[in-house]
Amino acid sequence: MRHLIDPMDLSVEEIDKLLNLADDIIAHKEKYQDVCKRKKLATLFFEPSTRTRLSFEAAMLELGGNVLSVSSAASSSASKGESVADTVRVASCYADIIAMRHPKEGAPYLAAMKSGVPIINAGDGGHNHPTQTLTDLLTIRREKGRLNDITIGFCGDLKFGRTVHSLIKALSRYANIHYIMISPEELELPEYIKEEVFEQKNIPYEQVRTIDEVIDRLDVLYMTRVQQERFFNEADYIRLKDTYILDMPKLKNAKEDLSILHPLPRVNEIAVEIDDDPRACYFKQVLNGKYVRMALIMTLLGLADSVKE
Ligand code: NCD
Repeated sequence: MRHLIDPMDLSVEEIDKLLNLADDIIAHKEKYQDVCKRKKLATLFFEPSTRTRLSFEAAMLELGGNVLSVSSAASSSASKGESVADTVRVASCYADIIAMRHPKEGAPYLAAMKSGVPIINAGDGGHNHPTQTLTDLLTIRREKGRLNDITIGFCGDLKFGRTVHSLIKALSRYANIHYIMISPEELELPEYIKEEVFEQKNIPYEQVRTIDEVIDRLDVLYMTRVQQERFFNEADYIRLKDTYILDMPKLKNAKEDLSILHPLPRVNEIAVEIDDDPRACYFKQVLNGKYVRMALIMTLLGLADSVKE
């Protein structure tokens, strides 16, 4: 039985296979409409979510399967003091596969040890978000036609942003990725990621404080929200929340084929005037997230090879 807890649980070949499958689903949706007939996905979300939970549920429904949902800690027995381990053991009696989001780092890993069915980490605290990473990789590959030879700027909350941590790890296995980290000092990438990814693999990276000084070199700009819920101190959040606001003047020197990604939700960091620019990819990214989750659910259920040509 396979789980997906950390983006590095998947080999580069497995990622390629998932992205190819997602491309095929996009091209031939009808082929996949009954693949998960009579299968059930449980979404156990102990932290707020719109896109991730809905995209998992939409993915399962489009595969012909069914969905059981816990949408908040308050509405589940977690509020009565039930442990993650027990909740998962129970849910795995009802469902064939579980997508789980939890504020505590490592909770989905613990869940996987107790579960009788595959567990997908849908975000654990400030740690990982592997299905967002698959979404991001699919988006970059569809926009750029490649996952090698890319200059990518990560901008905003690089300290608490789990989507950033997971994508950096996943990209470290592709050739000639140039990383530019754009953040205030307080929101720099955690040391453990710098060590685990860049230092151990001898991958160079730059750290800068403004978008302006690097925008002309970027192929991909990955914007992020300052993660209010992970701050200890409200005053720090208020001071840092609007450090970066991407607007039209900021794109003046950008490449014509720049791809702007954002895992969403957006707060203020991208002006709405950018939404209609052809370089804005964040709503396409949302849609890609559904297709890549369809590919992942099928694969973890062992059904990916059962689809007829
Ligand atoms: C992200 C998350 O939950 O980490 N959202 C998402 O899943 N698309 C990003 C965020 O909340 O800022």
